[in-house]
Amino acid sequence: MTEADLPVVLALEREIFPDPWPESGFLQQITSLGWGAIVAESDGTIMGYACYMMVATEGHLTNIAVVEAHRRKLVAKRLLEAILQVIKKAGCEFILLEVRPSNEAAIAFYRKYGFQDLYHRPRYYRYPVEDALVMVLHWD
Ligand SMILES: CC(C)(COP(=O)(O)OP(=O)(O)OC[C@H]1O[C@@H](n2cnc3c(N)ncnc32)[C@H](O)[C@@H]1OP(=O)(O)O)[C@@H](O)C(=O)NCCC(=O)NCCS
Repeated sequence: MTEADLPVVLALEREIFPDPWPESGFLQQITSLGWGAIVAESDGTIMGYACYMMVATEGHLTNIAVVEAHRRKLVAKRLLEAILQVIKKAGCEFILLEVRPSNEAAIAFYRKYGFQDLYHRPRYYRYPVEDALVMVLHWD
């Protein structure tokens, strides 16, 4: 993801999430050391994006989204795999994420790729208020 991608990414973010990130969130992702963001493109059109950050040996999947018309085509799988490759190479030992417990599609996706439930973080989300389910994926 580059700054030139931000108008499209922001429009998708607003379409997909009830509590979308502001532009500053994506700018932080693409400019901060140890943070990163990637897009999945087909013929120059963005189909999805994902963001991550690293703190010592911890990776965090901070965002992942795929345009509705392109879901169930393994776009998110490829985004996740690309991020795992980067953070493993950087020395991370596991990756954490937060997800709304009501987000059955995302939870099914994460479980499919080996994430396990850790705990609930009460009232983590706003608009609407909801707990976060914290999930983790470890590797050797
Ligand atoms: C969650 C999300 C990113 C998945 O993207 P995707 O590109 O459709 O996922 P993939 O095609 O890579 O899915 C791979 C596998 O994950 C599982 N999976 C993905 N979506 C699923 C769903 N809606 N229901 C059940 N399983 C699902 C399936 O096992 C799927 O393989 P299959 O299609 O062969 O059965 C997408 O639904 C999305 O953008 N949702 C809105 C944004 C969001 O909620 N992001 C997560 C915030 S924490």
